[in-house]
Amino acid sequence: MPRGGGAPSRIASAVRARSSMKVLGYNGGLDGYVARFGSSHDSAAALVIDGELVAAAEEERFNRDKHSGAFPIRAMEHCLKEAGLRGFEELDLVCYYHSHDRMWQPGMIRENAPRMSPLGRALLTGAVSGLRAVHRASKLDDARTARTFVERTGWAPPPGKYRVLWHHLAHAASAFYESPFERAVCVALDAQGESHSSTAFVGDARGLHLVDETYAPNSVGYLYQSITYFLGFETGDEYKVMGLAPYGDPARYRRFFERVVRTGAGGRFVIDPEWLGWLVVRDGLMRAGSGYPSSMLRELGMPRRDDEPIEQRHMDLAAALQEALERAVMRWLATLRDRTGEKHLCLAGGVALNCTMNGKIARSGMFDGVHVAPASHDAGTAAGAALYGYHAILGGAPKMPVSERRAKVYLGPSYTTMEARSAVREMRHAVRASRPGDLARAIAEAVADGKVVGFYQGRMEWGPRALGNRSILADPRRADMKDIVNHAVKLREGFRPFAPAVLIEEANDWFDLTGLGGESPYMLFTVPVHEHRRDRIPAVTHVDGSARVQTVRREDNPRFHEILRAFFDITGVPVIMNTSFNVKGEPIVNTPMDAIRCFLGTQIDLLVLDDLILDKRAVVVDRPSRTRDQSVAQTA
Ligand SMILES: [Fe+2]
Repeated sequence: MPRGGGAPSRIASAVRARSSMKVLGYNGGLDGYVARFGSSHDSAAALVIDGELVAAAEEERFNRDKHSGAFPIRAMEHCLKEAGLRGFEELDLVCYYHSHDRMWQPGMIRENAPRMSPLGRALLTGAVSGLRAVHRASKLDDARTARTFVERTGWAPPPGKYRVLWHHLAHAASAFYESPFERAVCVALDAQGESHSSTAFVGDARGLHLVDETYAPNSVGYLYQSITYFLGFETGDEYKVMGLAPYGDPARYRRFFERVVRTGAGGRFVIDPEWLGWLVVRDGLMRAGSGYPSSMLRELGMPRRDDEPIEQRHMDLAAALQEALERAVMRWLATLRDRTGEKHLCLAGGVALNCTMNGKIARSGMFDGVHVAPASHDAGTAAGAALYGYHAILGGAPKMPVSERRAKVYLGPSYTTMEARSAVREMRHAVRASRPGDLARAIAEAVADGKVVGFYQGRMEWGPRALGNRSILADPRRADMKDIVNHAVKLREGFRPFAPAVLIEEANDWFDLTGLGGESPYMLFTVPVHEHRRDRIPAVTHVDGSARVQTVRREDNPRFHEILRAFFDITGVPVIMNTSFNVKGEPIVNTPMDAIRCFLGTQIDLLVLDDLILDKRAVVVDRPSRTRDQSVAQTA
């Protein structure tokens, strides 16, 4: 059967066949007060062999704790198993993504304090100095990180085989070494990594060279986060604000953000100093409304509580914030382009998951090509650390001009047909299986018939997006399909859009892919849907006529491509709604049993598991309980 991504046996035999350089990268697993601050999240491990990323996965998929920051032991085991390695001792190098020794650097005060009021300056200096003292008292340093690795894995790497990198270097490497560019300006943008909020490197055959840096708390990531709180959402909900923005008019709060976000030397963004003081009163106080600058409350009114309705002013605020982010980042990028003369851009870091911003950057024509790391959030630093370790530390082959190179995303675990069958047998009291002769056609027909289909095959995707191996598929032609999928399984806010997958061969006919070289394989760019096509695919067209599209090539994912082709034949529409296979608050399904349980606990109509199509018997349904009765009622 065709499967997305390479088979593990191929990797294992390649490793056995020759002597190779094997580098493991990982992130997360922080402890002490740093973990309690929320700095340890999205733990992951990744394995690079001779410069090729061969395995990568997030710990959350194994321990089923969404955004887990736990030490990624199971993700590491996945990487070793995938490559056929007998143990950690076969590794040539292990690289970690975070240096304790780089936290709370004086640059945070030096860069930010001069712009602040005396009170703000005192608060910032006190906070940074105090946290540095706490850090020392907690005995958090890079040696402790190495000891934790030994304790958790049972393997003590020989001298020189364990290296600690720094956060933004790992982000930048994750984008650059998987990009098709020979050289590029590589930007890491997040809320804060160690002491920085943004950095820029030039990547070339010799490595990554720092060319610019901005110290936290001057951070567009923090700005976006604080407005996310203001709008009644939680940490990590920034994508919801991005989804809300197209409903609003940025004009209402434009002047506010023009004052709050300015452009400074080197085109760098400068957040209003009054805002910077928020770092010491974040979270609780801000959510209670007492931590916000008074000028902000005067202009924006009181923050929204999470149980209050979303009003037009909230949408307008989201729109103005999104506009401010784009303006600030694009001004900095333009300066970087002029300073470095680089024609290509690589982007990573949590802010690079802002697909609307990415789409604007690509369409601006500022760079000849833009590559965004598929795992731009912190999990991606595991891959970046491993890639950097191979290229820049072990002195592996330099990055070559690989114009045909494509970032790999099908890097997680796969399960054999026997394992899938065994899960089905175990659950045969609840599911019925059939094996159609033409599976792709059968799936396409079900989707065209209005069914919500769980689609599970091959290796799990790397990164937060489901790209056709752990996906839920539905008909994009029906305007009500968004509500149906939301009600059936996703239970998410009605204003958030669903994304389309499209046949690569037809993509330009439906979407404006200007600046993207005609494709968007990782769902990281929001692009306009051609105006005359919007009515044909209302379920995946956002209120402003945009879509976060995934283009699908046969060589990347043959079966998914085949399904899209069959759907096109049946309906004349080469587009299918594609959303991640999980319920709200849970990670994307990993094992066949995860998939069956999610299927049974929701109103997904059919589950495709390997080469089988499952439907439900009228029996026990697991969770969530609120959908139990409805699921039973519709299956008989
Ligand atoms: Fe980060």
